[in-house]
Amino acid sequence: MKRFDDKTALLTGVASGVGRATAHRLAAEGARVYGLDVNVEGMAETRAAVEAGGGVMATRDTDVRSVAECHAAVAECVAEFGGVDIVGNIAGIASQRHVHQVTEEGWDQMFDINVKGMFFLTQAALPHVLEAEGSIINIASNAGLMGQAYTVPYCATKGAVVNMTRALAMEFVKQPIRINAIAPGGIDTPLVHNFEIQPDVDFDLMQPYMGFRKASSPEQIAGLFAFMASEEAANIHGSIISADGGLTAS
Ligand SMILES: NC(=O)c1ccc[n+]([C@@H]2O[C@H](COP(=O)([O-])OP(=O)(O)OC[C@H]3O[C@@H](n4cnc5c(N)ncnc54)[C@H](O)[C@@H]3O)[C@@H](O)[C@H]2O)c1
Repeated sequence: MKRFDDKTALLTGVASGVGRATAHRLAAEGARVYGLDVNVEGMAETRAAVEAGGGVMATRDTDVRSVAECHAAVAECVAEFGGVDIVGNIAGIASQRHVHQVTEEGWDQMFDINVKGMFFLTQAALPHVLEAEGSIINIASNAGLMGQAYTVPYCATKGAVVNMTRALAMEFVKQPIRINAIAPGGIDTPLVHNFEIQPDVDFDLMQPYMGFRKASSPEQIAGLFAFMASEEAANIHGSIISADGGLTAS
């Protein structure tokens, strides 16, 4: 008996990084994975690898910025797999900008993906997760728990994820559902590999969020996700669990 036998996990951001690793981990532990992303090629690679390992996975080209798409994705997941037990709001973007470089378009894009998409996918999935007495896990960041120079919009979105998670947890505190967030520090994923450091930054200001330990692997975050989604975490609700090598301890 595996931990997620007969469970369906609806995950965003499965084409890459943490989403891909989480799809692998949950499928290996018995879950049917319904994965969403805008990167169709990357998503197909994840699905092929999951299936090659004996897992069950379906995917849907879904931009989480669209409320209608979030609702359609949930409906199709339910049609395909019969329900939703676990939601993983993993998709996200990050960028470094000086304050004067932030555009309205860039601000809106970051909030639409990192916050709005997370809320409306949750809204769409909630009736099914409540029926399943399941779990919702949002990926926040250490950037939601501390101020970081040069990433004001990103910090603002992740702070929103932290408090959105707590507010959702309180609204459903009397119901048999769990809503939590994971706040990783650096993770070795394409998001970091493609992170463009702006010229003229003052590295003294970046030092407090560089940390003292090496980055997590996406598999480590996926392992924590699996624990948070499992029965072993039955009393964890409304929590923001850091996995940042001590970055936010000081
Ligand atoms: N990598 C880090 O150091 C780090 C640290 C803390 C938190 N996080 C968070 O972890 C989460 C996963 O990031 P990652 O590091 O795996 O990055 P990643 O870039 O490897 O994966 C993010 C995925 O989200 C998808 N995505 C982007 N926009 C989308 C949209 N509109 N609709 C659907 N999918 C979309 C991308 O295509 C990609 O597959 C993000 O929320 C990120 O903010 C990452």
